Amino acid sequence: MYTETVQTVRHWTDTLFSFTATRNPGFRFISGQFTMIGLQVEGRPLLRAYSMCNANHEDQLEFFSIKVADGPLTSKLQKLAPGDQILVGSKPTGTLIQDNLLPGKTLYMLGTGTGLAPFVSIIKDPDTYERYEHVVLVHGCRAIPELGYGELVVNRLFEDEFFGEMVKDKLLYYPTVTREAFRNTGRITTLLETGKLEGDLQLPRLNRETDRVMLCGSPAMLSDLNKFLTESGFQEGNHSEPGHFVIEKAFVEK
Ligand code: A2P
Repeated sequence: MYTETVQTVRHWTDTLFSFTATRNPGFRFISGQFTMIGLQVEGRPLLRAYSMCNANHEDQLEFFSIKVADGPLTSKLQKLAPGDQILVGSKPTGTLIQDNLLPGKTLYMLGTGTGLAPFVSIIKDPDTYERYEHVVLVHGCRAIPELGYGELVVNRLFEDEFFGEMVKDKLLYYPTVTREAFRNTGRITTLLETGKLEGDLQLPRLNRETDRVMLCGSPAMLSDLNKFLTESGFQEGNHSEPGHFVIEKAFVEK
């Protein structure tokens, strides 16, 4: 377990915030993985799973979190300020990694809420763009302000001095909201069932010959999309056998 120092904190909505912290040079991970992080509470570590949002080449850690008023950890974590210390587990893990997927042409990353987090790291990784012709990031939220963190990350990438051209060439960002008017609306499930998502992106209908999918969201979202993909002939991949799609639940506190 490492002890790291919080460097910046940004609140996006009443329920979402992101923060950065120092990174031990010995901490290595694969884009898309998560680790246990938390705080010392009454002399004991209180830890939850969090996906890294920073790229492997960045020297700060970054996390995207919900705030739950009575959540054992997030009620405390949301009060973090620069200079505070957090605990960071030294054994990252997770299934949302490229080696668990068969080669393909288009990578679809489908996330709802804080399920965006692992994809933030993946879209910053040059390796992602080497593997695919198109890299699609879909972020589904209830309301527009919840998209703020994802929008900022994507805009920064588009403007990146070294990386921007490749990202502009390949990354297709598709934010969608379900409870107010916006340029894209509707649940990810509906957008795929109707083919609206691919139509809007000017891509062929989702198919297992060319497309690979990563899912991260609530249990209901994962279960519905798992069913949709399985019925479309996609096979789930894991560490022992790569497949057409992989799943990780967004680590929401109960
Ligand atoms: P909706 O507003 O129709 O419930 P939550 O904050 O509840 O995790 O939801 C985040 C986003 O995920 C919302 O846009 C929500 O849409 C959507 N969502 C919830 N359940 C599902 C599901 N089973 N499949 C796809 N999207 C879902």
